[in-house]
Amino acid sequence: MRISLDKAIELLKQGEVVAIPTETVYGLAADARNAQAIAKIYATKERPANNPLIVHIAGKEQVLDWASDFSPLARKLSEAFWPGPFTLVLPAREDISSAVRAGEPTVALRVPAHPVTRQLLSESGLGLAAPSANKYTQLSPTTAAHVESSLGDDIPVLDGGACQVGIESTIVSVSGDSWQLLRPGMISEAAVELAAGSPACKKAVVETPKAPGQHLLHYSPRTPCLLFDSRHSLTAYAAKVPDAAALLIGNQDVASVKRSIALLPDPALAAEQLYAALHTLDAMHASLILIESPPDTPDWAALKDRLQRAAYQPPA
Ligand code: TXA
Ligand code: MG
Repeated sequence: MRISLDKAIELLKQGEVVAIPTETVYGLAADARNAQAIAKIYATKERPANNPLIVHIAGKEQVLDWASDFSPLARKLSEAFWPGPFTLVLPAREDISSAVRAGEPTVALRVPAHPVTRQLLSESGLGLAAPSANKYTQLSPTTAAHVESSLGDDIPVLDGGACQVGIESTIVSVSGDSWQLLRPGMISEAAVELAAGSPACKKAVVETPKAPGQHLLHYSPRTPCLLFDSRHSLTAYAAKVPDAAALLIGNQDVASVKRSIALLPDPALAAEQLYAALHTLDAMHASLILIESPPDTPDWAALKDRLQRAAYQPPA
């Protein structure tokens, strides 16, 4: 069900969930100060309540409403990357609902760049807890139609068009003057290092960092996926599985595959198309989706991370 901005604000203030557009993926939002509203997020997604949520805020002026410490390093990173596809995990204020941080001593904060959601955040004055607007472990949505196909037509959706970054935000945790990458995204580790002026701290800065997306079976289409190191090995395998479909990078000429989608050979453009391509391939009801691995270079790291998770095969 598509709704207006005013209706979205009204529903959120009443403690309801609303799917909202961001530049990364659509989020399933609720008032981050309302534990009952947050419970509706977990119930709608069928997500375990031990996985904390990102709180979306209007600007860095709101950080200290949620975090107990906004260190000079965290400020520097927020100035470099907000608004944008970047999430900061900071020590939480004690008055923050434990529902949103799943009992963690930290809180994840992001200032999204999507104009519709920026307006929603500034007009409502709310902080919005929002995980990706899909059922737990399923593919993330990058259009309003993806949200409806995962969560059903009754879910209220604020339609902001197709997401332009296309994969989830980079997550960095900051403790004092050290930082750690918790989830790769289109803001690369090298870009964070440059803005921070120091390399990532490789040992845990918090005792048990909840590695985001640590569940290996994540971002998955319903169709089983296999990841291939090279076009050559994919082509050879495809010859034995005639009804397989393929996700390729670059040109589309693989004689042994009848149905395929090729992502553009540029990481930013490929990321923008990634989930839509996987949604389309999934809807083909092929026996398998064969995936060509992107190059092993830092600019493809976030995409490769998502593809490895999509292709995870639980041990038989
Ligand atoms: O781009 C995005 O980040 C999208 C849009 C909607 O903003 N959101 C998103 O949310 O990807 P979700 O819930 O699918 O992933 C959030 C990740 C989870 O893996 C969770 O473990 C991690 O963030 N996270 C949240 N709070 C955390 C915390 N306090 N400490 C460590 N990790 C945290
Ligand atoms: Mg998700």
